[in-house]
Amino acid sequence: MHQFKALSLAWLVPFATATASAATPVCSTVSFQVSATAQNEVFLSPPNPNNETQVLNFFYGTTSVSGTFTIDGTYCCPGPCNEGTVLEVLVHGISYNRALWSGLGQGNTYNWQSYAASRGYCTLAIDRLGHGTNPQHPDPLNVVQGRMQIEIIHQIINAVRTQSANPLGRTFNKVIYVSHSYAGWLGIGLANAYPTDADAMVLTGFSAAVNFTPFAFAELESYSRLRPAVLPGLPLGYITFELESQREADFYAGAYSKTVALADYALEDTWTIGETGNLGFVVPPPSYTGPLYLATGVNDKLFCEAPLSACQSILSSTQELFPRVTKFGYTAVSNTGHTLMMHSSAQQTFANVHTFLDQVL
Ligand SMILES: *[C@@H]1O[C@H](CO)[C@@H](O)[C@H](O)[C@H]1NC(C)=O
Repeated sequence: MHQFKALSLAWLVPFATATASAATPVCSTVSFQVSATAQNEVFLSPPNPNNETQVLNFFYGTTSVSGTFTIDGTYCCPGPCNEGTVLEVLVHGISYNRALWSGLGQGNTYNWQSYAASRGYCTLAIDRLGHGTNPQHPDPLNVVQGRMQIEIIHQIINAVRTQSANPLGRTFNKVIYVSHSYAGWLGIGLANAYPTDADAMVLTGFSAAVNFTPFAFAELESYSRLRPAVLPGLPLGYITFELESQREADFYAGAYSKTVALADYALEDTWTIGETGNLGFVVPPPSYTGPLYLATGVNDKLFCEAPLSACQSILSSTQELFPRVTKFGYTAVSNTGHTLMMHSSAQQTFANVHTFLDQVL
């Protein structure tokens, strides 16, 4: 099902930082070739009630979609990359890309990958299909959908677990799925379809109580219209926030730097209408039994609710989405909005997550 570019460690070395210590992770850029097939949704704009084909497709509307995709990542380890026994696979949310996990270039305070390395964890932050530096921008309605993203993540996890010739140059027998926002739904879909892919799951900026209202009021625009110079010719179905003020209001709250919020808007990525058009893959996973940790800002307008006790209650009841999870923990991060790793509380969030992981793995 999958093949890889012949990337040797010799190729990786020039991209690695020169010296390694506990505080200086060694990072490199990697690139996976993934062949994936997904039962994607067929979107019909309202079916013609007199056409049986359309009526049936509307109710039973999935079709098999396949492709071979290049998925870029940033791979970091505590030191030389044979150190570290656990790999976190970091999956960004909508309108972000893998740069989120290194703090969008806004300093070490916000750098999840750096922090994880300081606690002995390797990380692989990937650009989901259609995002970041990935060279392909497939059909944003019919190809770039949640189910396809799940299949691609599954293939990458399978490769880093079992294929010694994978782009990381080694395998890991413990893999943690770490998500932000929308990728939490992908995590539920992954745990449903492939319950043993993740040894633990950490869902950030997430809960079972999503409030879509802030999104419904946001003005959205096709990315190629908003920023024609960046990705000319990008299909119009790749959309994003038009206004800095609305993006900041949806993603930031409490204690954060205005400079960071401005950089976040300047660097914003896209999402596709196919990703948000259907969440039918979000079905509670009956067989996932690993640990689960949630980290969400108390002032996250999309997934939590102030005061602290209200957010704690939302996060606590989110365990019900995972019927067989027993090792469960959460942190409701005070004074913090949706993109919690870019807030002043980031180091505390990172510490809480990794303390939980140390305890359960
Ligand atoms: C019914 O819809 C299908 C799918 O859109 C189309 O191919 C077909 O021609 C339609 N049939 C009629 C009788 O209009």
